[in-house]
Amino acid sequence: MSHMDAGVPSTPGKFKSEKPHHHHQRLLLRWQHSPLPKFLFWSLFAGAVLFSLFLISPRSSSSSPAGHTHSSSVTERRFLRTSSSSSSATWGGREWEKRVRSSARVRRHPFGLTVLVTGAAGFVGTHVSNALHRRGDGVVGLDNFNDYYDPSLKRARQALLSHSGVFLVEGDINDGPLLRKLFDIVAFTHVLHLAAQAGVRYAMVNPGSYVHSNVAGLVSILEAARSANPQPAIVWASSSSVYGLNTQVPFSESHRTDRPASLYAATKKAGEEIAHVYNHIYGLSITGLRFFTVYGPWGRPDMAYFFFTRDILAGKPITIFEGPDHATVARDFTFIDDIVQGCIASLDTAQKSTGSGGTKKGPAQLRVFNLGNTSPVPVVELVSILERHLKVKAKKKVVKMPRNGDVLFTHANISLAKKELGYRPTTNLNTGLKRFVKWYLDYYSSSGSHLAKKGRSGHGSSSSS
Ligand SMILES: NC(=O)c1ccc[n+]([C@@H]2O[C@H](COP(=O)([O-])OP(=O)(O)OC[C@H]3O[C@@H](n4cnc5c(N)ncnc54)[C@H](O)[C@@H]3O)[C@@H](O)[C@H]2O)c1
Repeated sequence: MSHMDAGVPSTPGKFKSEKPHHHHQRLLLRWQHSPLPKFLFWSLFAGAVLFSLFLISPRSSSSSPAGHTHSSSVTERRFLRTSSSSSSATWGGREWEKRVRSSARVRRHPFGLTVLVTGAAGFVGTHVSNALHRRGDGVVGLDNFNDYYDPSLKRARQALLSHSGVFLVEGDINDGPLLRKLFDIVAFTHVLHLAAQAGVRYAMVNPGSYVHSNVAGLVSILEAARSANPQPAIVWASSSSVYGLNTQVPFSESHRTDRPASLYAATKKAGEEIAHVYNHIYGLSITGLRFFTVYGPWGRPDMAYFFFTRDILAGKPITIFEGPDHATVARDFTFIDDIVQGCIASLDTAQKSTGSGGTKKGPAQLRVFNLGNTSPVPVVELVSILERHLKVKAKKKVVKMPRNGDVLFTHANISLAKKELGYRPTTNLNTGLKRFVKWYLDYYSSSGSHLAKKGRSGHGSSSSS
């Protein structure tokens, strides 16, 4: 609606006989002298701003093709679509509540946990939910199924969970009424909060999605948890990316984390500070886990090991980054089973929150752990291992690493997790990639060729996120 339209009376045809020129002049004069049009102008202006904010929100149904190769995605994918944004309420009702309760039922007494796993249709979330359920804990998943990468992979993970009896609620972590409902129905002992906007480079395309999920979403989860009675203990995924420009290696929890190199890292760092606040004010027991480049079966298509595999098989060239003076880019690749073990150990050792009904009753536990493999591997070596397992030679293109948020090197010091959690990673990159390649070939041969899927496999992102 233009400014002029604001002055048009509601009775159509009233101005029909007037000359358009005089009509416009009169409207303009009236517009300039009356306080009402000014008010209308500013209301419309505010409305337009709100509308554009709505459009950039990940819940927006603005369409974007799901997934591209690397550079095309960077210019095109500024919006995320979620299943909940295209349909109306996807939760609620007696049948829905019954499924939530049944999924939350503990089958391991007397020490079973009741865990709300956010991001459960994601890579890590699916694996941990499955492992918790297998040992008899009650698990309810929550995910908005956004299309940052191929949602059909998330649906396939959901089917896997559903098959073993884990119910996955479709919804956004920013949906306060949904969270309240879940806490009303189930007395969760723990929240494993993994839902986030992952990926380092995509932050330059859709920064709003990082604020929405990693900052606002985290606060929404912590708000629901602090008001719940009993308050659950929280274990959540931070990231190795918080070490940013830190050059001291291996990265230890005591090192500086105030120089993030990407917006993704900054939102994870903000999350660690927000966790401190909720621990301090409300007595929530909170454990932050800094994952180091997690890989494995059912992994994320936006990560290098995944899209290298896809491109090598398709005979397409792959781009390998190098640092200044041909410096090697290396990552502390950590196999998913080791991460699952670290998550479960964190849940098992988390002390109870001390607050109740939103009021702190005493000091509560606040922890941060590195979960890595403590053995960095150059990306060129990752490629050689993939070539061996795929039995295909890669067409390599080595280029200077652009300044897009990625760091050159990650290496975890895991002594603290070893000591406090009994965390002991056992899978080396060769073994882990062998398992990944086996899964990849099985998955994409049974659900159509990888070539058919490749257009929907998400963003070329960093090898660590
Ligand atoms: N995989 C890694 O290498 C790695 C490294 C460091 C940190 N992390 C962190 O670990 C966690 C899990 O990562 P992942 O690799 O499984 O990623 P993933 O993208 O596969 O899983 C995240 C899930 O969260 C969901 N989600 C995102 N925003 C949401 C929202 N607003 N409401 C509800 N659901 C939402 C997504 O749909 C997705 O299924 C993330 O917090 C990530 O930042 C991962």
